[in-house]
Amino acid sequence: MSAPLLELIGVSKEFSSQDAALRVLTDLDFSVHAGETVAVTGPSGSGKSTLLSLLAGLDRPTSGRVRRDGTDAADWDEERVARWRRARVGFVFQNFRLMPTLTALENAAFPLEMQGASPAAASERALELLTDLGLAPRAAHRPSQLSGGEQQRVAIARAYAHRPALILADEPTGSLDRATAARVLDALLAVHARSGAALVIVTHDPAAAERLGRRVRLDAGRLAA
Ligand SMILES: Nc1ncnc2c1ncn2[C@@H]1O[C@H](COP(=O)(O)OP(=O)(O)OP(=O)(O)O)[C@@H](O)[C@H]1O
Ligand SMILES: [Mg+2]
Repeated sequence: MSAPLLELIGVSKEFSSQDAALRVLTDLDFSVHAGETVAVTGPSGSGKSTLLSLLAGLDRPTSGRVRRDGTDAADWDEERVARWRRARVGFVFQNFRLMPTLTALENAAFPLEMQGASPAAASERALELLTDLGLAPRAAHRPSQLSGGEQQRVAIARAYAHRPALILADEPTGSLDRATAARVLDALLAVHARSGAALVIVTHDPAAAERLGRRVRLDAGRLAA
């Protein structure tokens, strides 16, 4: 098997305040391989979002090693991690985080333009994804003119537009009602199946977790399969 896309080896994370250190993740081993889908579940406060931040390189572990694309990332500076993240990672957030002044199409095209694609090529790719997600008729609408489920589908188009190797989604259906959540997950998994990317989803929804290839559970900062 080829090297994992991403590997955490013996990783711990502490947050320190004035006089106490809060240990959030303890001696974690966790790998993500190309193309796989993983659900991360666990109680509130168990460290799920912290784990995603470490995977994304938005934060660094207190101890342990991180390997990205088969390379030890210990000596990567912020700039190199940021470059890796822009090129290789797409994000879907619980609260969508679309840019309010941009249309659906412009929101979806934005990361591609950040990667240096021409506006025409970026728009074409974004429209293709919005079409797959059933949103072509909404391409010119701004987020305030879209429902929550529609906004999250735009965010999914944005996450996949630059063909990242890894999608990280933190409770992507957590702000949606049950029926909408199920439809948005259907849409996400359909786009995902054509992408070849790996997908890590944090979710509180057991039915959503069941639809992914593998499940891990965080409990008090430790991982159980
Ligand atoms: N930047 C920070 N500074 C200090 N403590 C933090 C920080 N980020 C997270 N924590 C603490 O770490 C613990 C884990 O937080 P995290 O957000 O990873 O949990 P979670 O599993 O995502 O929870 P939820 O399901 O509620 O989103 C919590 O106790 C939280 O207060
Ligand atoms: Mg969280």
